[in-house]
Amino acid sequence: MHVVYPGSFDPFTNGHLDVAERASRLFDRVTVAVLENPAKRDRYLFSIEERLAIIRASTKHLPNVEVEAFHGLLAEYMRKKGLRVIVKGLRAVSDYEYELQMAHLNRQLNPEVETLFILAATRWAFVSSTMVKEIARYGGDVGRFVPPPAARALKAKFQGEER
Ligand code: PNS
Repeated sequence: MHVVYPGSFDPFTNGHLDVAERASRLFDRVTVAVLENPAKRDRYLFSIEERLAIIRASTKHLPNVEVEAFHGLLAEYMRKKGLRVIVKGLRAVSDYEYELQMAHLNRQLNPEVETLFILAATRWAFVSSTMVKEIARYGGDVGRFVPPPAARALKAKFQGEER
């Protein structure tokens, strides 16, 4: 089965990597689909090219994982690709409400699509891209929370910035 693991991945964390690895063990093929939203470009720290490069470098040990950008509705992207399974990671109950809403709406937009949830490892339950960015912005070490390509990219981004 070929599944899609979508997200904004700004940046890709160890929690995301854990979900990608779990999916790669369960399914034949996993496409990590990175949301490119030109209208909200300033909302992201990393450009779509940077996010793709970080994820590709972080998943290169997983031969059945590929990475690409998508824009517009996820339900439409699934239709265009002819794929029917979305995989999303869940950390804690706090993720559930948002994910439930998206899964229901995606099902209404494309009734052929099922959303499956994979529980991220407990040690990553409190790691989020938002918190990681905040730690890195103030000079904290994020090496234990994100894969090395993301850690290097964060360091480069915030180097020389006023703290
Ligand atoms: O990083 P996230 O917040 O888990 O990613 C959310 C994402 C990218 C999967 C979601 O925002 C999305 O699918 N956006 C594309 C637009 C869309 O389809 N929106 C309607 C969802 S009901």
